[in-house]
Amino acid sequence: MEGVYVDTSAICYIDGKGGKLYYRGYDVEELPERSSYEEVVYLLWYGRLPKKKELEEFKKNLAKNRFLPGEVLELMDKLPKSVHPMGALRTIISYLGNLDGEPSLSTGDVYQKGISVTAKMPTIIANLWRTKNGLDYVEPKTELGHAANFLYMLRGEEPTLREEKSLDVALILYAEHEINASAFTVMTVGSTLSDYYSAVVAGIGALKGPLHGGAVEEALNQFIEVGSPERAEEWFWETLRSGKRIMGAGHRVYKTYDPRARIFKNYARELGNPRLFEVAERIEELVETHLAEKGVHVNVDYWAGIVFHALGIPPELYTTVFAMGRIAGWTAHLAEYLTHNRLIRPRLKYVGEIGKRYVPIEERE
Ligand code: ACO
Repeated sequence: MEGVYVDTSAICYIDGKGGKLYYRGYDVEELPERSSYEEVVYLLWYGRLPKKKELEEFKKNLAKNRFLPGEVLELMDKLPKSVHPMGALRTIISYLGNLDGEPSLSTGDVYQKGISVTAKMPTIIANLWRTKNGLDYVEPKTELGHAANFLYMLRGEEPTLREEKSLDVALILYAEHEINASAFTVMTVGSTLSDYYSAVVAGIGALKGPLHGGAVEEALNQFIEVGSPERAEEWFWETLRSGKRIMGAGHRVYKTYDPRARIFKNYARELGNPRLFEVAERIEELVETHLAEKGVHVNVDYWAGIVFHALGIPPELYTTVFAMGRIAGWTAHLAEYLTHNRLIRPRLKYVGEIGKRYVPIEERE
């Protein structure tokens, strides 16, 4: 489906040649310094920046929805310790759907359930990790912002303002990206008029894969594996020779530098482990020198892991943090598509045989 326009949308525009990204018309490079994740969620859902009072109400509503039902905490305890946090997140969101008495799908429902799930995701992710590691459950603090509250629950102590800002920016950069594999999956499930939770669960499943959101964990792991900038070149050629890919590089739409990667790189330079940053910078130089002619440059996932690492977020949680941001975009697309819903049902061009004679099993050689 490369280059295929599935529908029209007023949520997000990607200029893949120019390396620009706009949320509801606003340049994403302007948002990190001026906005907050909560404001960006409002913008994506309702199509305009909120007034002061509207933003305060919206933040309050999110904060009061952060708490998890007791049944969810019990389920967290029962999940196998070996399960990847994306698999666990998928199960918990599905269970939230079971606990919701009215899992129907209308535009109004989408926003109401969107608030609940967006607010609960940080509590789920932080406490999944804590439970798995034998640590006590940490209740959300309603007086903290979305990003600060996540770091507080995960680490058990409130973050510095710089740490809070870094995660807030990461969530803004991950909030939306047009019709990527997970958003398309969410829309496809929504188009059958299933329910909000089923659509989000399907999106989490799509995001989990290493060619999509799973790349953020793998990108960081590759820098750790390389270990020193002196080893980068040998590793780069060996990776390509063995038919593998540089994780966090390449994109279906961007054929130039991903603007989100540029912002993440600045944060990675400022906060990240200097050794990991040097390794990543050396590999990036090799990508630019040898793969740019194919339109391959580093993408959003390349530098994000170094920022998350600096914030003390364990690598196995990186893709869940991506999901925590992207729930905003998934919800926006569901709501927009429902305004003119039509079942998504493309075709496959058949290349097999037809009219074959059925051979009874006794006669088959
Ligand atoms: N490393 C090395 N070479 C690459 C990479 C990479 N990461 N990505 C693409 N290429 C090469 C391909 O080998 C191919 O070369 P060829 O023409 O000589 O065969 C050429 O670039 C075009 O690649 P395609 O596979 O056609 O590109 P496609 O649009 O299908 O793939 C994808 C996009 C899946 C993202 C790919 O670049 C990739 O696998 N990247 C690594 C995983 C990754 O970082 N995923 C995150 C994407 S962003 C996101 O989802 C948040």
